Amino acid sequence: MTLLPVRARYNVVIKCYLIYAKEEGILLINEQDRLWVNGVISKITDKLDWVSEKSRHKIPYTTVDGTHDDRSKENPSGDDADGICWWTNGFWGGMMWLMHHETGQEKYKEIAAYSEEQLDRCFEQFYGLHHDVGFMWLPTSVASYKVTGNPESRKRALLAANLLAGRFNLAGGFIRAWNDLKEGDTRGWAIIDCMLNIPLLYWASEETGDPRFKQIAMKHADTSMDAFVRPDGSVHHIVEFDPFAGGVVKTYGGQGYAEGSSWTRGQTWALYGFMMSYIHTGKQEYLDTAKRVAHYFIANIPADGVIPVDFRQPAVPKLEDDTAAAIAACGLIEIAKAVGEHEKDLYVNAALKLLKTLDHSRSDWTKNRDGILQNGTGAYHSATHHFEIIYGDYYFIEAIFKLKGNDLYLW
Ligand code: GLY
Repeated sequence: MTLLPVRARYNVVIKCYLIYAKEEGILLINEQDRLWVNGVISKITDKLDWVSEKSRHKIPYTTVDGTHDDRSKENPSGDDADGICWWTNGFWGGMMWLMHHETGQEKYKEIAAYSEEQLDRCFEQFYGLHHDVGFMWLPTSVASYKVTGNPESRKRALLAANLLAGRFNLAGGFIRAWNDLKEGDTRGWAIIDCMLNIPLLYWASEETGDPRFKQIAMKHADTSMDAFVRPDGSVHHIVEFDPFAGGVVKTYGGQGYAEGSSWTRGQTWALYGFMMSYIHTGKQEYLDTAKRVAHYFIANIPADGVIPVDFRQPAVPKLEDDTAAAIAACGLIEIAKAVGEHEKDLYVNAALKLLKTLDHSRSDWTKNRDGILQNGTGAYHSATHHFEIIYGDYYFIEAIFKLKGNDLYLW
């Protein structure tokens, strides 16, 4: 065996440590912040311990009088898309996998498995499904397969990936978002949220060795960089392409305030989504785009750290969306881990500000309510605002575990 000179050996050790630190998600934060993270983790584990038992046989989206609803049973509008095929139905299972990873407790694995099995009805119903199959099967089946190697989970995840790939429009180079809506023809519609669905395609290529899934994901990401991201780093929610000839037809404000505005959750789907595309592909433009969106986002965080529904909404009413803060924090932490020491503080400090605001003033840690974050908002023009939404809690927990260095990497 040839021994390297001492300095070279030292460099190898340092390099290995840095690679280990990146792969294991260890982000060095100061002692005071580390103590705060540990405190939040103990509040999360206390709360999820009893909430998981109470909601063991549910798939919650929100709460009614503080108690989780159940999308696996109720079908509020008579439409499959609002019932078992509701796009958020993967987050409860995902939360259970995060908790299993953190605590090692079997009960979380059992609840996640139950939730994943319920989703099989969606494959049978089919019509309620659209591009959000990534949100549904990444945190459930892909997570299960990664943790347990269950071949049934692998099959479900590949089926979902094939459904997503089948929505690709070759003329426009985009993945079609929704199915026909009552209000109009959506054949040419793509939405920025899809940036968090396409990791399912990256996973499918990584798992099978078949490059088609990744090629579709990257084409969609490239189209999104061109068509959704504005020069100032803000993003459109919806872009309509000509589904026959390609090319942008029109943009829409979607769930934000208006056309040309800046729906905050949409900004975060872009921020975290481009970052995940960079992690899966190494393509530098995706990291540059994630950073550009992040810089715009950070510049717009209000002094009190409370994220509005839209950065360009009127000052009154002061509508908030705490889910956007949680998703942004996840993306910012991933950017911090990818950039050098000299750059990371900008992103870590912004993430800490968002998460501390959520912990200190927007969370319920009591036994009175099943949800943690209290001020989620689906869309600016919805009839109701400021309620518990399952993906707010999911991404808040994911972000806190990322800070600890114990993320499960579900995207
Ligand atoms: N993906 C839809 C939303 O963020 O509300």
